[in-house]
Parts: sequence; C-alpha cells; structure tokens
Amino acid sequence: MAKIIDGKAVSASVKEEVAAEAAVLKEEKGINIGLAVVIVGNDPASRVYVNNKKKACEAVGFRSFEYALDESTTQEQLLDLIDVLNRDDHVNGILVQLPLPAHIDEKTVINAISPEKDVDAFHPVNVGKIMIGEYAFLPCTPAGVMKLIESTGTEISGKQCVVIGRSNIVGKPMAMLLLHKSGTVTICHSKTKNLKEICLGADILVAAVGRANLITGDMIKEGAVVIDVGMNRLENGKLCGDVEFESASQKASYITPVPGGVGPMTIAMLMRNTLTAAKNQMK
Ligand code: GUN
Repeated sequence: MAKIIDGKAVSASVKEEVAAEAAVLKEEKGINIGLAVVIVGNDPASRVYVNNKKKACEAVGFRSFEYALDESTTQEQLLDLIDVLNRDDHVNGILVQLPLPAHIDEKTVINAISPEKDVDAFHPVNVGKIMIGEYAFLPCTPAGVMKLIESTGTEISGKQCVVIGRSNIVGKPMAMLLLHKSGTVTICHSKTKNLKEICLGADILVAAVGRANLITGDMIKEGAVVIDVGMNRLENGKLCGDVEFESASQKASYITPVPGGVGPMTIAMLMRNTLTAAKNQMK
C-alpha cells in the first residue's frame, strides 16, 4: 500500500521558508515584495486560482496587486497594462492567469511580460533557459512536482521516468527537469501506442494529461513513485486526477492524492519564484 505524499505539508514548508526570507528582506533592506495578478473575464476556475494566489501572497508577507479586467478588454489594453507593470518597481512578479478570452492571443501577451518578472516561467527566454539548465525560474507546477519527489527521498538519477502529457506548461518542462537530474525520460501523449507497456517500466510516473482516471493500477510498476498532476471535474462535480487512486495506490510506493497533492505546490512555487524575482531585481 502506497504512502501518500502530503502536498499541503510540503507546500506549507516551502511557504514558511519563503516567508522567513521575505521577512529578512523587509527588515534589512526595506523591500516589500509585490506580485501583480491579472485576470481577464469571469472563468470561475481562474477566479478560484487567483484568489488562492492572493491568499498565499498574504500568508508569506508579499503585497498582491489584482487587476480584474472585463471580458471585453482588448489585447491592446492588456498589453498596455503589462507595459506599466513591467516598469513598476513595486511589482516584482507578473502573472497573467490563463486561459485568456479567445480574442486575445496568449503568446503575444506572454511575450510582452518582462522575462525578469515572468514568475510563471512561460516567456520564451525563460523556457529556453530551462532547456540549457541555466534558469532563474522554473514553471511552478513541474518545480512543485520535483519538490514532491524529493520529499520521498527518491533518487532520480538513472531511474526510468515517464511523463504523460506534452503541454508547454507541464509535460515538456517536467521532462526537462527530470532529465537535468539524470533520469531516463520518456514522454507519452495522445498518439502513444503502447502506453501501458511504457508506464509499467516507470520508476517515477508523472501524469499530466487531463483525462480522468486514465492511469490504472495495472499500468503501474510495483514500488513506483506516482505523481498525479491531473485536476478533472467529473459529472457528479467531484474532483479527480489522471490516476485511478484506489488501484494505483495498491502498486505504488508513494502517490499524490487529488486534491491535496500537486495543487498546493504550484502556488508555493509561485511564491518562491516571486521571491527569486525580487532578489534578482536587487542585483
Ligand atoms: N492557468 C492554469 N494554470 C496556470 C498557471 O500555472 N499560470 C497561469 N498564469 N495561468 C494558469
């Protein structure tokens, strides 16, 4: 029976570290760290995420500046706001909550954020730095997954690591981080033919596809570390991951629950990135 990886506890310890460092910066250098959070439109899930990000800022002693823009906001107006935030010294990090309304081009918006303030690490400059292993920020969800794997004491070097999903936000950077730690990494996606066979070879399995209960216990190697990034809403309103928890936990050595696994880590790593941004901007 697998041990459950407690994302809330690991997240709390990351936030405590960040809060302690932020307090020192405030006391010794008079620096108030600030995160600007921009949300466009009324997507209910985005609203919840943004509220959680603001709460986390309060908890670690950061200022948060919320810009809740109407659904009808034009791309020009959003780019103008980003330009102002890029030049505002009170703002150390800028986060534009995705998805954006269909009439706004996400790439153009991400490219407009100053890479030094891009605490999501979505800007092509930051993505490129991740490829070569010389990064200031890591994207929050993959960075959180690495912390969770670390919390189990599992050595990544030489292990078979399987990432399911190839999104720019999770799958691709996740694979790169595991590779930087000398894992042997396989990336699976919707066109992968022998998913079960590949998963059965995984010592470390990270599922990030957004398909409820896709990964079942019979696809998991005995003793594997299983990290479930999925966050799927079932018809009955219940939240579930990409991994079928009951059967998978019979095989895994460690497993993350949904909710309470990867989710809380994403926000903790956002706080860490914002602290890093502030420190780098001081230099
Ligand atoms: N929407 C879903 N996840 C994320 C995230 O990590 N960052 C931003 N900006 N938007 C998101």
